[in-house]
Amino acid sequence: MSTVILSQDELSRYNSLIPSLKKRIAEAGIERGQPLTYRVKTYGCQLNESDSEKIEGILQSIGLIEASEDQSPDFLIFNTCTIRENADIRLFGNLGAYKAQKRQNRDMFIAVCGCMMKQQENIERIKKSFPYVDACFGPADIHMLPSILDKKLNQRKRVFAVSDEDYLVDDVDVPVLHKRKFRALVPIMYGCNNFCTYCVVPYTRGRERSRSSAQILSQLRELAASGYKEVMLLGQNVNSYGNDKEDEISFAELLEEAAKIPGFSRIRFMTSHPKDISEEVIYTMKKYKNIERHLHLPMQSGSSAVLKRMNRHYDQEQYLKTALLFRKELPDATLTTDIIVGFPGETEEDFLATLDVVEKCRFDSAFTFQYSRRPGTKAADYPDQIPQDIVTERFGRLLELQNALTFSSNESCVGNTEEILIEGKSATAPDVLTGRTNSNRLVNFRIPSGIQLNGKEIDSTASDFDADQFEGMLAMVSITRAKPYSVEGELVRFIDE
Ligand code: 5AD
Ligand code: SF4
Repeated sequence: MSTVILSQDELSRYNSLIPSLKKRIAEAGIERGQPLTYRVKTYGCQLNESDSEKIEGILQSIGLIEASEDQSPDFLIFNTCTIRENADIRLFGNLGAYKAQKRQNRDMFIAVCGCMMKQQENIERIKKSFPYVDACFGPADIHMLPSILDKKLNQRKRVFAVSDEDYLVDDVDVPVLHKRKFRALVPIMYGCNNFCTYCVVPYTRGRERSRSSAQILSQLRELAASGYKEVMLLGQNVNSYGNDKEDEISFAELLEEAAKIPGFSRIRFMTSHPKDISEEVIYTMKKYKNIERHLHLPMQSGSSAVLKRMNRHYDQEQYLKTALLFRKELPDATLTTDIIVGFPGETEEDFLATLDVVEKCRFDSAFTFQYSRRPGTKAADYPDQIPQDIVTERFGRLLELQNALTFSSNESCVGNTEEILIEGKSATAPDVLTGRTNSNRLVNFRIPSGIQLNGKEIDSTASDFDADQFEGMLAMVSITRAKPYSVEGELVRFIDE
């Protein structure tokens, strides 16, 4: 695999196909008496979500509109994830469900992209068992989508376009549809060089490629000027930003430059690797109040022996040092993590070390995973795989401890009045809104009577009340109650009417 910097000419060649595709889609819509629609189903991490925003940007640029929930789309794209085995299983189950729809609408276009496409056995399976899938492409091939659509629509052939190269495409040249009114996802780098022995990502997303800081910052300035309140800087390992380039600024410097741009209330970043995070990043977070008071620092295991076999390049002591420095410097911030239980060779003693570090760090929340054997990774061939019953038992113990810590963290903010960035309607009830604190805590809250917005009183009990109208607004919310995975509150006042 090699990194290929896509030339402007090549990118223009793909983009030049957009007008003719647009014409064709418009004609098909007129013929049918209804515009053609699309749906993108996204699995996995925020990088996939960001990729889907590019896919949607391209689909909308050729004139497709997003299908409503009850509509069968004309163009359906599955953006897949393969980080754990259950992610694979879900895709094939979901694909099967679309067979009948394709039979009813022969012109329906179904494509599968994302990380699963970098595993040849998945391509073979689709070739053989899912003949109604029209195209497959890889996570680095999104910019080629106009050409894939062109080939399929004009030559009526199945297209398998998963390239071996790690393209570096600067996002400014690809249309992006930001799904949320308030949040812009901005990849700062692609790929991963770490080869943690359990992980498929370096195989599916290739080597680290950093975007230029000049491009990133000019994109951020544009986003701030167009009203985005929150920006999320994305990369598998943001702390190694720039290492693949000469004369590039460090991640801490990039974060500082982003924080200086007027307009953003929240700058978030994901994911930090404990081996690469510098103290400078922590001090930068402390210095700028518009950087989220939250650090996600995947620990994976608390045992130095396991960390070594995971190829993580840090031990328990180093992890604790960073975590505790963060706790000391930003005492009001939240610290979250990822933990894998049942990694090959994990002994009871290793597992107890994990529980011990969890207690010492008092994570505010954690994503906990049972080790999943991924073909092609080093750990998949380790001889000492852990029996499922032991994994289940340890997983239960970890969950019990972490749930108690998460709850106690939620309890600790009851009584506070915090600034919330409103995300819209909650999953609980139509008159309950949802949003996040600056420390990324999920808050469900009501608007009590007597609250005014633009001189008008809000009535959240009215039948035409639409909580989504507040998406992207900032408000002060008083936190009244802790729940296991969220907190409840009541709106005190809007900040930016
Ligand atoms: N099994 C279980 N969890 C995994 N993760 C990555 N690969 C695996 C695997 N093979 C988890 C890690 C990582 C998160 C995104 O997914 O904890 O940080
Ligand atoms: Fe996977 Fe490790 Fe890279 Fe994260 S740092 S994407 S866990 S290989």
